[in-house]
Amino acid sequence: MTIKITGTGRALPEKTVTNFDMAKLVDTSDEWIRGRTGIAERRISTGDTVSSLAAKACAEALTMAGKDAEEVDLILVATCSPELLLPCCACQVQSAIGAHQAVAFDLNAACSGFLFALNTAYAYLQTGLYQNALIVGSEVLSKLIDWTDRSTCVLFGDGAGAAFIEKTEADEVCANGRTAGIEEMVMGSDGTKGMVLACAERTVSNPYFKETETIKPYVYMNGQEVYKFATRQVPACIKEALDKANLTVDDVDLFVLHQANVRIIESVAKRLKADIAKFPMNLDRIGNMSSATIPVLLDELNRDGKIKKGDRLVLSGFGAGLTYGASILVWG
Ligand code: ACO
Repeated sequence: MTIKITGTGRALPEKTVTNFDMAKLVDTSDEWIRGRTGIAERRISTGDTVSSLAAKACAEALTMAGKDAEEVDLILVATCSPELLLPCCACQVQSAIGAHQAVAFDLNAACSGFLFALNTAYAYLQTGLYQNALIVGSEVLSKLIDWTDRSTCVLFGDGAGAAFIEKTEADEVCANGRTAGIEEMVMGSDGTKGMVLACAERTVSNPYFKETETIKPYVYMNGQEVYKFATRQVPACIKEALDKANLTVDDVDLFVLHQANVRIIESVAKRLKADIAKFPMNLDRIGNMSSATIPVLLDELNRDGKIKKGDRLVLSGFGAGLTYGASILVWG
Protein backbone atom coordinates (compact mmCIF):
# COMPACT_ATOMS: atom_id res chain seq x y z
CA MET A 1 0.00 0.00 0.00
CA THR A 2 1.23 3.52 -0.80
CA ILE A 3 0.16 6.77 0.80
CA LYS A 4 0.72 9.87 -1.30
CA ILE A 5 0.26 13.54 -0.54
CA THR A 6 -1.36 14.58 -3.82
CA GLY A 7 -2.32 18.12 -2.86
CA THR A 8 -1.20 20.84 -0.48
CA GLY A 9 -2.55 24.29 0.31
CA ARG A 10 -2.20 27.21 2.68
CA ALA A 11 -4.02 30.34 3.78
CA LEU A 12 -2.51 33.27 5.64
CA PRO A 13 -4.14 36.47 6.88
CA GLU A 14 -3.26 39.53 4.79
CA LYS A 15 -2.07 41.67 7.71
CA THR A 16 1.69 41.54 8.24
CA VAL A 17 2.99 42.67 11.64
CA THR A 18 6.73 43.31 11.74
CA ASN A 19 9.03 43.30 14.76
CA PHE A 20 9.08 47.10 14.47
CA ASP A 21 5.28 47.09 14.81
CA MET A 22 5.63 44.86 17.89
CA ALA A 23 8.09 47.34 19.41
CA LYS A 24 5.29 49.93 19.34
CA LEU A 25 3.12 47.62 21.48
CA VAL A 26 5.58 46.24 24.04
CA ASP A 27 9.12 46.94 25.26
CA THR A 28 11.02 44.89 22.68
CA SER A 29 13.18 45.33 19.57
CA ASP A 30 13.72 43.79 16.15
CA GLU A 31 17.24 42.87 17.29
CA TRP A 32 16.00 40.95 20.37
CA ILE A 33 13.25 39.07 18.54
CA ARG A 34 15.38 38.15 15.51
CA GLY A 35 18.36 37.20 17.65
CA ARG A 36 16.41 34.94 20.04
CA THR A 37 13.85 33.47 17.65
CA GLY A 38 14.70 34.20 14.00
CA ILE A 39 11.28 35.81 13.50
CA ALA A 40 11.06 39.11 11.58
CA GLU A 41 7.32 39.31 10.92
CA ARG A 42 4.11 37.33 11.32
CA ARG A 43 0.58 37.36 9.86
CA ILE A 44 -2.23 38.39 12.19
CA SER A 45 -5.95 37.85 11.68
CA THR A 46 -8.13 40.89 11.06
CA GLY A 47 -11.25 38.74 10.93
CA ASP A 48 -10.01 35.42 9.56
CA THR A 49 -11.05 32.49 11.72
CA VAL A 50 -9.56 29.04 12.23
CA SER A 51 -12.33 27.54 10.08
CA SER A 52 -12.18 30.16 7.29
CA LEU A 53 -8.39 29.79 6.98
CA ALA A 54 -8.69 25.99 7.13
CA ALA A 55 -11.38 25.93 4.43
CA LYS A 56 -9.23 28.09 2.09
CA ALA A 57 -6.18 25.86 2.61
CA CYS A 58 -8.32 22.73 1.99
CA ALA A 59 -9.79 24.14 -1.22
CA GLU A 60 -6.25 24.79 -2.52
CA ALA A 61 -5.12 21.26 -1.60
CA LEU A 62 -8.13 19.69 -3.35
CA THR A 63 -7.58 21.78 -6.50
CA MET A 64 -3.96 20.61 -6.65
CA ALA A 65 -5.05 17.00 -6.14
CA GLY A 66 -7.70 17.37 -8.85
CA LYS A 67 -10.42 16.15 -6.48
CA ASP A 68 -13.96 17.32 -5.79
CA ALA A 69 -14.90 17.99 -2.18
CA GLU A 70 -17.61 15.32 -2.53
CA GLU A 71 -14.87 12.71 -2.93
CA VAL A 72 -13.25 13.39 0.47
CA ASP A 73 -13.63 10.51 2.97
CA LEU A 74 -12.13 12.05 6.13
CA ILE A 75 -11.34 15.56 7.38
CA LEU A 76 -9.04 15.95 10.37
CA VAL A 77 -8.39 19.45 11.66
CA ALA A 78 -5.56 19.93 14.14
CA THR A 79 -6.07 23.10 16.14
CA CYS A 80 -5.74 24.47 19.66
CA SER A 81 -7.52 27.75 18.89
CA PRO A 82 -10.94 26.95 17.34
CA GLU A 83 -13.51 29.76 17.24
CA LEU A 84 -16.18 27.37 18.54
CA LEU A 85 -16.00 24.54 21.06
CA LEU A 86 -19.07 23.05 19.40
CA PRO A 87 -19.27 22.15 16.58
CA CYS A 88 -15.71 21.16 15.85
CA CYS A 89 -13.75 23.05 13.20
CA ALA A 90 -13.56 20.01 10.90
CA CYS A 91 -17.39 20.03 10.62
CA GLN A 92 -17.30 23.74 9.81
CA VAL A 93 -14.75 23.01 7.09
CA GLN A 94 -16.83 20.11 5.78
CA SER A 95 -19.79 22.45 5.40
CA ALA A 96 -17.73 25.33 3.93
CA ILE A 97 -16.12 23.25 1.18
CA GLY A 98 -19.10 20.97 0.57
CA ALA A 99 -17.41 17.68 1.51
CA HIS A 100 -20.74 16.11 2.40
CA GLN A 101 -19.53 12.50 2.34
CA ALA A 102 -16.64 13.08 4.75
CA VAL A 103 -16.37 12.13 8.40
CA ALA A 104 -14.97 15.19 10.18
CA PHE A 105 -13.44 15.74 13.58
CA ASP A 106 -10.74 17.77 15.35
CA LEU A 107 -7.60 16.73 17.11
CA ASN A 108 -5.61 18.86 19.56
CA ALA A 109 -1.94 18.10 20.03
CA ALA A 110 -0.88 21.77 19.83
CA CYS A 111 2.22 22.25 17.65
CA SER A 112 2.46 18.49 17.00
CA GLY A 113 -1.15 18.50 15.81
CA PHE A 114 -0.63 18.26 12.04
CA LEU A 115 1.86 15.43 12.43
CA PHE A 116 -0.45 13.54 14.80
CA ALA A 117 -3.35 14.10 12.37
CA LEU A 118 -1.27 12.79 9.46
CA ASN A 119 -0.35 9.67 11.42
CA THR A 120 -3.95 9.18 12.57
CA ALA A 121 -5.25 9.47 8.99
CA TYR A 122 -2.53 7.08 7.83
CA ALA A 123 -3.68 4.51 10.39
CA TYR A 124 -7.30 4.85 9.17
CA LEU A 125 -6.20 4.45 5.55
CA GLN A 126 -4.11 1.40 6.46
CA THR A 127 -7.14 -0.34 7.98
CA GLY A 128 -9.02 0.16 4.71
CA LEU A 129 -11.73 2.22 6.41
CA TYR A 130 -11.04 5.27 4.22
CA GLN A 131 -9.32 5.84 0.87
CA ASN A 132 -8.30 9.47 1.38
CA ALA A 133 -8.13 12.27 3.94
CA LEU A 134 -7.82 16.04 4.16
CA ILE A 135 -5.47 16.94 7.01
CA VAL A 136 -5.32 20.48 8.25
CA GLY A 137 -3.39 22.53 10.78
CA SER A 138 -5.11 25.85 11.44
CA GLU A 139 -4.61 28.45 14.17
CA VAL A 140 -5.60 31.94 15.17
CA LEU A 141 -3.21 32.19 18.11
CA SER A 142 -3.41 35.98 18.18
CA LYS A 143 -6.62 35.69 20.23
CA LEU A 144 -4.93 33.46 22.85
CA ILE A 145 -2.02 35.78 23.41
CA ASP A 146 -1.62 38.40 26.08
CA TRP A 147 -0.57 41.31 23.88
CA THR A 148 1.04 43.03 26.88
CA ASP A 149 3.36 40.07 27.58
CA ARG A 150 6.49 40.63 25.52
CA SER A 151 7.87 37.18 26.29
CA THR A 152 5.09 35.45 24.32
CA CYS A 153 3.32 37.93 22.04
CA VAL A 154 6.32 38.29 19.73
CA LEU A 155 6.47 34.56 18.96
CA PHE A 156 3.21 33.64 17.31
CA GLY A 157 1.25 34.16 14.11
CA ASP A 158 -2.00 33.01 12.46
CA GLY A 159 -2.49 30.75 9.44
CA ALA A 160 -3.50 27.38 8.07
CA GLY A 161 -2.00 24.61 5.95
CA ALA A 162 -3.60 21.49 4.48
CA ALA A 163 -2.59 18.26 2.77
CA PHE A 164 -4.72 15.78 0.85
CA ILE A 165 -3.52 12.20 1.22
CA GLU A 166 -4.60 9.27 -0.90
CA LYS A 167 -4.04 5.57 -0.73
CA THR A 168 -3.14 3.26 -3.59
CA GLU A 169 -3.39 -0.50 -3.08
CA ALA A 170 -0.13 -1.31 -4.90
CA ASP A 171 3.31 -0.09 -3.78
CA GLU A 172 4.62 2.76 -5.91
CA VAL A 173 8.38 2.53 -6.49
CA CYS A 174 10.06 5.83 -7.41
CA ALA A 175 12.88 6.18 -9.98
CA ASN A 176 15.48 6.22 -7.16
CA GLY A 177 14.21 2.84 -5.92
CA ARG A 178 12.45 4.18 -2.84
CA THR A 179 8.84 3.16 -2.22
CA ALA A 180 6.51 6.14 -1.78
CA GLY A 181 4.67 6.47 1.49
CA ILE A 182 5.20 6.70 5.23
CA GLU A 183 8.15 4.54 6.23
CA GLU A 184 8.14 5.00 9.98
CA MET A 185 6.64 7.13 12.71
CA VAL A 186 7.34 7.89 16.35
CA MET A 187 5.00 9.85 18.61
CA GLY A 188 5.18 10.67 22.29
CA SER A 189 3.51 12.69 25.04
CA ASP A 190 4.59 13.82 28.49
CA GLY A 191 1.60 15.17 30.39
CA THR A 192 3.64 15.64 33.56
CA LYS A 193 5.25 18.73 31.93
CA GLY A 194 1.92 20.10 30.69
CA MET A 195 2.10 23.42 32.51
CA VAL A 196 5.37 24.40 30.81
CA LEU A 197 3.29 25.64 27.90
CA ALA A 198 -0.38 26.14 28.66
CA CYS A 199 -3.50 28.18 28.04
CA ALA A 200 -6.65 27.98 30.20
CA GLU A 201 -10.23 27.55 28.98
CA ARG A 202 -13.33 28.65 30.88
CA THR A 203 -13.35 27.46 34.48
CA VAL A 204 -16.07 25.46 36.23
CA SER A 205 -18.90 27.79 37.14
CA ASN A 206 -22.42 26.51 37.71
CA PRO A 207 -25.19 26.90 40.30
CA TYR A 208 -23.42 24.34 42.55
CA PHE A 209 -19.77 25.28 42.24
CA LYS A 210 -17.56 28.18 41.27
CA GLU A 211 -13.87 27.73 40.78
CA THR A 212 -12.00 30.35 42.79
CA GLU A 213 -8.43 29.80 41.58
CA THR A 214 -8.33 30.81 37.97
CA ILE A 215 -5.52 30.93 35.45
CA LYS A 216 -5.60 33.65 32.82
CA PRO A 217 -6.95 32.38 29.49
CA TYR A 218 -3.76 33.38 27.65
CA VAL A 219 -0.74 31.43 26.48
CA TYR A 220 1.72 30.89 29.31
CA MET A 221 5.18 29.56 28.48
CA ASN A 222 8.33 28.69 30.37
CA GLY A 223 10.58 29.40 27.38
CA GLN A 224 13.71 27.84 28.77
CA GLU A 225 11.95 24.56 29.67
CA VAL A 226 10.37 24.42 26.19
CA TYR A 227 13.79 25.05 24.67
CA LYS A 228 15.38 22.24 26.70
CA PHE A 229 12.53 19.83 25.87
CA ALA A 230 12.62 20.58 22.15
CA THR A 231 16.38 20.43 21.68
CA ARG A 232 16.57 17.10 23.54
CA GLN A 233 13.37 15.34 22.46
CA VAL A 234 13.22 16.27 18.77
CA PRO A 235 16.62 14.85 17.74
CA ALA A 236 15.96 11.81 19.95
CA CYS A 237 12.63 10.98 18.29
CA ILE A 238 14.00 11.62 14.77
CA LYS A 239 16.90 9.27 15.55
CA GLU A 240 14.48 6.68 16.94
CA ALA A 241 12.34 6.81 13.78
CA LEU A 242 15.44 6.54 11.55
CA ASP A 243 16.78 3.61 13.57
CA LYS A 244 13.43 1.82 13.34
CA ALA A 245 13.49 2.29 9.56
CA ASN A 246 17.15 1.20 9.32
CA LEU A 247 18.10 4.59 7.92
CA THR A 248 20.65 7.25 8.79
CA VAL A 249 20.53 11.04 8.78
CA ASP A 250 22.35 10.97 5.41
CA ASP A 251 19.41 9.10 3.85
CA VAL A 252 17.13 12.10 4.48
CA ASP A 253 16.70 14.86 1.88
CA LEU A 254 14.66 17.34 3.91
CA PHE A 255 13.81 17.84 7.58
CA VAL A 256 10.49 19.68 7.79
CA LEU A 257 10.35 20.73 11.43
CA HIS A 258 7.79 22.68 13.42
CA GLN A 259 8.82 26.31 12.98
CA ALA A 260 9.03 27.47 16.59
CA ASN A 261 12.44 29.02 16.76
CA VAL A 262 15.52 29.12 14.53
CA ARG A 263 17.80 28.34 17.47
CA ILE A 264 15.86 25.14 18.23
CA ILE A 265 16.10 24.03 14.58
CA GLU A 266 19.83 24.81 14.43
CA SER A 267 20.41 22.89 17.65
CA VAL A 268 18.46 19.86 16.32
CA ALA A 269 20.55 19.89 13.12
CA LYS A 270 23.75 20.06 15.18
CA ARG A 271 22.74 17.23 17.50
CA LEU A 272 21.83 15.05 14.52
CA LYS A 273 25.08 16.06 12.76
CA ALA A 274 22.91 16.95 9.76
CA ASP A 275 23.52 19.70 7.20
CA ILE A 276 21.46 22.75 8.21
CA ALA A 277 20.75 23.32 4.48
CA LYS A 278 18.40 20.31 4.72
CA PHE A 279 16.23 22.20 7.25
CA PRO A 280 14.04 24.63 5.28
CA MET A 281 12.63 27.51 7.35
CA ASN A 282 9.96 30.16 6.87
CA LEU A 283 9.48 31.38 10.43
CA ASP A 284 11.29 34.63 9.66
CA ARG A 285 8.31 35.60 7.45
CA ILE A 286 5.37 34.04 9.33
CA GLY A 287 6.41 33.22 12.89
CA ASN A 288 5.15 30.26 14.89
CA MET A 289 1.63 29.17 13.87
CA SER A 290 1.56 26.02 16.05
CA SER A 291 -0.15 23.15 14.16
CA ALA A 292 -0.09 25.14 10.89
CA THR A 293 3.67 25.52 10.55
CA ILE A 294 4.48 22.10 9.08
CA PRO A 295 1.72 22.03 6.42
CA VAL A 296 2.36 25.66 5.42
CA LEU A 297 6.07 24.95 4.97
CA LEU A 298 5.25 21.73 3.11
CA ASP A 299 2.99 23.66 0.74
CA GLU A 300 5.65 26.33 0.11
CA LEU A 301 8.25 23.66 -0.68
CA ASN A 302 5.83 21.73 -2.87
CA ARG A 303 4.68 24.74 -4.89
CA ASP A 304 8.24 26.02 -5.26
CA GLY A 305 9.26 22.66 -6.76
CA LYS A 306 11.67 21.95 -3.89
CA ILE A 307 10.31 18.44 -3.24
CA LYS A 308 10.86 15.80 -5.92
CA LYS A 309 9.28 12.39 -6.35
CA GLY A 310 11.34 9.92 -4.32
CA ASP A 311 12.65 12.53 -1.84
CA ARG A 312 12.74 11.30 1.74
CA LEU A 313 11.32 13.82 4.23
CA VAL A 314 11.34 13.76 8.00
CA LEU A 315 8.42 15.71 9.44
CA SER A 316 8.81 16.52 13.12
CA GLY A 317 6.49 18.38 15.47
CA PHE A 318 6.80 19.31 19.15
CA GLY A 319 4.78 21.44 21.49
CA ALA A 320 2.29 21.78 24.31
CA GLY A 321 1.21 18.61 26.04
CA LEU A 322 4.08 18.12 25.95
CA THR A 323 3.84 16.27 22.64
CA TYR A 324 6.41 15.34 20.03
CA GLY A 325 6.84 13.10 17.02
CA ALA A 326 8.64 12.34 13.79
CA SER A 327 7.42 10.66 10.61
CA ILE A 328 9.53 9.54 7.68
CA LEU A 329 7.83 10.02 4.34
CA VAL A 330 8.96 9.26 0.79
CA TRP A 331 7.27 11.73 -1.55
CA GLY A 332 5.28 10.00 -4.27
N1 ACO B 1 11.95 41.66 24.03
C1 ACO B 1 12.92 42.06 24.85
N2 ACO B 1 13.23 41.43 26.00
C2 ACO B 1 12.50 40.35 26.31
C3 ACO B 1 11.48 39.86 25.49
C4 ACO B 1 11.22 40.56 24.31
N3 ACO B 1 10.25 40.19 23.45
N4 ACO B 1 10.97 38.76 26.06
C5 ACO B 1 11.63 38.54 27.19
N5 ACO B 1 12.56 39.50 27.35
C6 ACO B 1 13.51 39.67 28.44
C7 ACO B 1 13.02 39.04 29.73
O1 ACO B 1 12.12 39.90 30.41
C8 ACO B 1 14.32 38.87 30.46
O2 ACO B 1 14.68 40.12 31.00
P1 ACO B 1 15.37 40.18 32.47
O3 ACO B 1 16.66 39.42 32.33
O4 ACO B 1 15.53 41.63 32.67
O5 ACO B 1 14.39 39.51 33.38
C9 ACO B 1 15.32 38.55 29.34
O6 ACO B 1 14.70 39.01 28.13
C10 ACO B 1 15.63 37.09 29.23
O7 ACO B 1 14.40 36.38 29.29
P2 ACO B 1 14.35 34.84 29.06
O8 ACO B 1 12.94 34.35 29.14
O9 ACO B 1 15.38 34.21 29.96
O10 ACO B 1 14.80 34.80 27.55
P3 ACO B 1 15.46 33.61 26.79
O11 ACO B 1 16.85 33.90 26.51
O12 ACO B 1 15.13 32.29 27.43
O13 ACO B 1 14.65 33.70 25.42
C11 ACO B 1 12.88 32.54 24.34
C12 ACO B 1 13.25 33.54 25.40
C13 ACO B 1 13.25 33.10 22.99
C14 ACO B 1 11.38 32.31 24.37
C15 ACO B 1 13.67 31.24 24.64
O14 ACO B 1 13.42 30.78 25.92
C16 ACO B 1 13.37 30.18 23.69
O15 ACO B 1 13.85 30.18 22.57
N6 ACO B 1 12.53 29.22 24.10
C17 ACO B 1 12.03 28.19 23.27
C18 ACO B 1 10.56 28.30 23.32
C19 ACO B 1 9.94 28.69 22.02
O16 ACO B 1 10.54 28.94 21.02
N7 ACO B 1 8.64 28.67 22.08
C20 ACO B 1 7.85 28.89 20.94
C21 ACO B 1 6.48 28.50 21.22
S1 ACO B 1 6.33 26.88 21.83
C22 ACO B 1 6.35 25.81 20.59
O17 ACO B 1 6.09 26.14 19.48
C23 ACO B 1 6.67 24.42 20.87
